[in-house]
Amino acid sequence: MYKHDTEVPEFILSKRIGILTGGGDAPGLNAVIRAVVLTAEHHYGWEVVGILEGFDGLYHGLPVVQLNEANVRDLLARGGTILGAANRGSPFAHPVPQPDGTVVIEDVSHEALNRMKSLGLDALIVAGGDGTMSIAHKLVAMGAHIVGVPKTIDNDLGNTDVTFGFDTAINTATEALDKLQTTAESHHRVMVLEVMGRDAGWIALHAGVAGGADAILIPEIPFNIEVVCNKIRQIQMSGRNYSLVVVAEGAAPVDGEQQFHIKDDGKGSGRLGGIGHSVGAMLAECVGAEVRVTVLGHVQRGGQPTPGDRWLATRFGSAVLRLVEREQWGYMVALQGTHIVPVTMEQAAQMKFVDPQSDVIEMARDLGIVFG
Ligand code: F6P
Repeated sequence: MYKHDTEVPEFILSKRIGILTGGGDAPGLNAVIRAVVLTAEHHYGWEVVGILEGFDGLYHGLPVVQLNEANVRDLLARGGTILGAANRGSPFAHPVPQPDGTVVIEDVSHEALNRMKSLGLDALIVAGGDGTMSIAHKLVAMGAHIVGVPKTIDNDLGNTDVTFGFDTAINTATEALDKLQTTAESHHRVMVLEVMGRDAGWIALHAGVAGGADAILIPEIPFNIEVVCNKIRQIQMSGRNYSLVVVAEGAAPVDGEQQFHIKDDGKGSGRLGGIGHSVGAMLAECVGAEVRVTVLGHVQRGGQPTPGDRWLATRFGSAVLRLVEREQWGYMVALQGTHIVPVTMEQAAQMKFVDPQSDVIEMARDLGIVFG
């Protein structure tokens, strides 16, 4: 065993590792980069280079950044990603604008592979969500040496108990609820808070419970607005003059559909949003109180990671180098229980949703929270 850097054996001295951050950013990405670089340098004696702007930077041939202890040392508490991220960029579906104004989608995955070769990368670490893991999985099938770190505030990656970024997001959303409660109480209002999470209700559920919400609407449980109206009326009759409703951006009524700001963004997906205001309008009709709506938006993705996310990101970032050492290409580090384990990227890309029958939903219902 080589416990100290003075004992790094000759045979692993020459590795050159690339790292990129894919998809939307999440608090903790910089902590992952830092942990990768410190572990590579101190434990393995490997070199790390940063690929800018996610997979886009790889196949567009953007210059790489030399990473070392000196330039990552202060990254632990910094939000965002120093490498930049390309939300929705994929080498398998690269949009190429044509002279006639149309856009043709091209598969440029071979360019990504060639770039990894020309950079002399022995391995590429990708920190990302389901989109990033799906792309990486396909590149691995073409022969690429890629390993992954699970990232997303949505906490919807499969086969890991939690992703980093989630803790910070629920912290932000809970703080928003705490603040909304005091002003709701002053003005006797119903406060609706729309939170992120795409098709998963994890942020809404966790922040809703932690912030004392009366109703939590999540994509996994289509809602009946009458149930929420009745809950608020009951609260009013009990003498409490305010209530808090958390709505996940992907929530939908039993007889309706999810709402989008943009249904098709031209990159294979849409941008959810708008359900908070719809719920607010419905509640304004059925309860005799003023209703106000807050859409939390990207505040949930920004700012310093919580200590919990710094801890998890550091564990993931350090552990992913063990996958490189063992040449476990196509695997991602995951947290299961208290252990970091390898899972395949294919397993990770299977989304994890809130189970409506789970004990946490039962617990929330037992507390009096309604899900519509
Ligand atoms: O996946 C993370 C996430 O923040 C979702 O919760 C949200 O729906 C989406 O990204 C927003 O994406 P964008 O940054 O492209 O607006």
